[in-house]
Amino acid sequence: MSTLIKNGMVITAGDTFQADILIKDGRIAMMGEDLVVEGAEVFDVEGKFVMPGGIDVHTHLDMPFGGTMSSDDFFTGHRAAAFGATTTHIDFVLQPMGGSLRDGLDTWHAKANGKAAIDYGFHMAITDLRDEVMDEIPTLVDQGITSIKLFMAYKGILQVDDITLFKAMMVAAEHGLLTMVHAENGDVIDVLVKQALANGQMDAIYHAKTHPALIEGEATGRAIALAGVANAPLYVVHMTCREALDQLALGRAKGLPVMGETCTQYMFVFEDDLTKPNFEGAKYVCSPPVRQPADRDALWSALTGGGLQAVSTDHCPFWFEGGQNGRIAGKELGRGDFSKIPNGMPGIEDRLGVMWHHGVNGGKFSPNRFVELMSTNPAKIFGLYPRKGSISIGADADIVVWDPEKDHTISASTHHMNTDYNVYEGMEVRGWTEKVFLRGRLIVDGDQWLGEAGSGQFLRREPFAEVL
Ligand code: URP
Ligand code: ZN
Ligand code: ZN
Repeated sequence: MSTLIKNGMVITAGDTFQADILIKDGRIAMMGEDLVVEGAEVFDVEGKFVMPGGIDVHTHLDMPFGGTMSSDDFFTGHRAAAFGATTTHIDFVLQPMGGSLRDGLDTWHAKANGKAAIDYGFHMAITDLRDEVMDEIPTLVDQGITSIKLFMAYKGILQVDDITLFKAMMVAAEHGLLTMVHAENGDVIDVLVKQALANGQMDAIYHAKTHPALIEGEATGRAIALAGVANAPLYVVHMTCREALDQLALGRAKGLPVMGETCTQYMFVFEDDLTKPNFEGAKYVCSPPVRQPADRDALWSALTGGGLQAVSTDHCPFWFEGGQNGRIAGKELGRGDFSKIPNGMPGIEDRLGVMWHHGVNGGKFSPNRFVELMSTNPAKIFGLYPRKGSISIGADADIVVWDPEKDHTISASTHHMNTDYNVYEGMEVRGWTEKVFLRGRLIVDGDQWLGEAGSGQFLRREPFAEVL
């Protein structure tokens, strides 16, 4: 059975061209003008854009965190992602304290098995780097895991020290793995949080006040310096502020193999949102925290000018009103004590729509740069290219038909994420998903879900992927 997508305007990271696309056995088999293929199922998408499926390389599905679990699992999160034109994501496996990397991996495979509805890979978050765990790092490559993540924050929970970070970087680089860091100074945060609580400063806003931009910048610079000494490719996740961007720019200017992403929410949510009454500010608590409009401007410049390489979501959803009506606990855990608010926000469904509207319609960047940031660069950096992130012969037919004229209002009342709020509530965007194909199979058609739990595939990624 073959599928023919006709009359679309194909947008890749490099080109824009009119072409028909023939899909066979889940892959792109042919592209050209006026293709006629007997027996093919034909979709005429005249007036629409055809792009590679979105790739979100920073998600936390079904993850124990902040005294509860993130509220999307590998089915609800995948369905939501697909409605938002994302067909691949990479989730973070957490090594259990005292356990092995393999233990973590087994747990995450079990979470995804039978539920996955889009394709997925894993990064390995190393939390407990004992000698035997160090020896395990090279074996990750054989299991299709080619990136590790270390947290420089969350003291006493996930944080590693500089020795651990540096040693891990060296081993990772030797074996072709990319090191990722959450760059904040967790020791300083710990002091500031204790001080705030002792002063009776309990509201959500103090989450931001105790996680200042200066120490995100400091940790980013430190990670870059360590990566430089270790000669290790580095990817800094969820960058939020000018202080951190300056460090990345400095490292790249020195020729160091360092890259960075920001996440959608940092472009639209600000410190002021944490002051919303009735505990509403808790909805926007994440780490690093949301910043100032001036930081947003710096992030847009970096996305436009090449200072940042990708946009992800850090999708880590929690209920606002959890712990009731069959819901697991959520943000309410932190009522009266900001340090107990589970850190994270939903967003896996909204990344492409929001960034298209504000990025492309807003004149910040071209549709091609949009594809590069949302799909192609993530595929290249994380060892998935050209199977993913491209519209080319032989690539997986993960294809989004995008309607640039479709108006959509973002709302928790219509989204598919398993949360009771949306950080972009009421945002009106022009340009939204029309159809989504996963390896040639139509999984979203307008408002209709056609995907299937268990049809998503685990992606074994390549080592020594590109440094952009
Ligand atoms: O607040 C956040 N970002 N939660 C998810 C975990 C992390 O730090 O990425
Ligand atoms: Zn983080
Ligand atoms: Zn994260």
